[in-house]
Parts: sequence; C-alpha cells; structure tokens
Amino acid sequence: MLQLQKISKIYWKQGHCIIALPPADLTVGEGEFIAVRGASGSGKTTLLLIAGGLLHPDSGHVLVQGKDLYQMERGDRAHWRSRNIGFVFQQYHLMPYLSVLDNVLVPQLAAEIGGLEERAVELIHHFGLASRQFHLPFELSAGEKQRVALARALLLKPRIILADEITGNLDPHNAGIVLRFLHEFVDQGGSVVLATHDAGAAAQAHRTLSLSIEKNMIGTE
Ligand SMILES: Nc1ncnc2c1ncn2[C@@H]1O[C@H](COP(=O)(O)OP(=O)(O)OP(=O)(O)O)[C@@H](O)[C@H]1O
Ligand SMILES: [Mg+2]
Repeated sequence: MLQLQKISKIYWKQGHCIIALPPADLTVGEGEFIAVRGASGSGKTTLLLIAGGLLHPDSGHVLVQGKDLYQMERGDRAHWRSRNIGFVFQQYHLMPYLSVLDNVLVPQLAAEIGGLEERAVELIHHFGLASRQFHLPFELSAGEKQRVALARALLLKPRIILADEITGNLDPHNAGIVLRFLHEFVDQGGSVVLATHDAGAAAQAHRTLSLSIEKNMIGTE
C-alpha cells in the first residue's frame, strides 16, 4: 500500500547539518496499524510528512501502487494524496477563521467534490464535538482541536491514516474513542501509521518502528 525505502531528510542551518531523519524503511500493508516511536526530535513528524507526499526526501523512494510518489507530477501527487491519505497534523493546522464544521469540510473543496456535509456532521458527533460545531478553533481546547483535525482527515474516506501524536492531548475517555476508531478502520482494511510518545497507544499497534535520537541506529521490533 505504501513503501518507504531508505527515506532520509537533512537540513542545513548556518553551516550545520541537521539529520532530521536518517535512512528509514517501512512497508505499510492493508489493514496494518503501525506505531512510530522515538524521542522528541528523532524524526517521527518528518517521516510522516514524507510518507504523506508533503515533504520531499533527500534520498530514498516512497512507492505507492508501484509508482514513486515523488516522481509524479505535483498535481498527480496532490490528487493521489487527497484520495488516499488522511493526515492528522501534530499542530492541527486548522483554518482560524472557519468553524469546526467548515474546517472538517475543507478537503471537499480541495478535491472539488460536494455533498459531504452529512458525513462531516456525523464525524463531528462521533468524536464528541456536536456542541462545538460552530465554534472557531481559538474557542476550542487542544484535545478538541486534535479531534477536529482527525475528523477532517477522515472526510474523504482515506485508505491510509497518518496520525501525528493524536492522543497526546486527549483524556483517557477520548483517547479510547480515537484508538477504537483506528482499530475499526484497520479492521475494515485501512492502514494506520501513528507517531506517538504514548506507550499505551503504541502497545495497540501491530508493529512498531523505533527511531533513534542518536541518529546512528534505527530498527523495528
Ligand atoms: N525545517 C526544518 N529545518 C531544520 N531542522 C528541522 C526542520 N524540521 C525538523 N527539523 C529538525 O529535525 C529533527 C526531527 O524533527 P521532527 O519534527 O521530525 O521530530 P519528532 O520526532 O516529530 O519530534 P516530536 O516528538 O517533538 O514531535 C528535529 O531535531 C528538528 O529540529
Ligand atoms: Mg513530531
């Protein structure tokens, strides 16, 4: 479904080289739930962004349906992404002047389709935000914003959810709802890659990819 082959990312800053992600491999199959763990700064977000077609790697390949995602035309990559990937950003990236409902509906504008209001409302209800539908992001708690970002990622029924620390700001009740949802999603053949510091959430995954902050080690368990 998604194959990361020796993907890496390096930044140069004031003459210093920052290895954001040393070469990493990961194959994500249908119906798989994979956790990505590692200390802060070990490259979890960088890996998810590369996997989701949002950040060019400096080396390696991201293969989807036998094609290299970064060899595709920009428009084709965006199209593939909108049809296949649900990305939940660690920093939410909600539109500040749009209501919760309109934020959840943003992907339908990008995909130039319509008629998803009912599904958006269903998702908002599912994640316990019914009474927040017309709130603006600044009126929400961190955990509420996290759930809006998750609902938005699910609007177009992606095949792969790339979720960056989505249980980090949630109380046990809401974390349970989100994790149950992810399990149902993989049971129906979807794939999940979850970057997390939360040992409880990672324990629920089928496999774990561990990134090392020392930048000299990377392994799976
Ligand atoms: N645009 C950038 N320019 C320079 N350095 C960057 C950039 N983006 C990330 N980095 C660096 O790359 C490393 C990996 O960042 P990343 O955000 O992937 O870590 P992370 O594992 O997600 O951390 P956290 O658990 O805190 O979210 C960090 O040391 C970070 O400072
Ligand atoms: Mg991160």
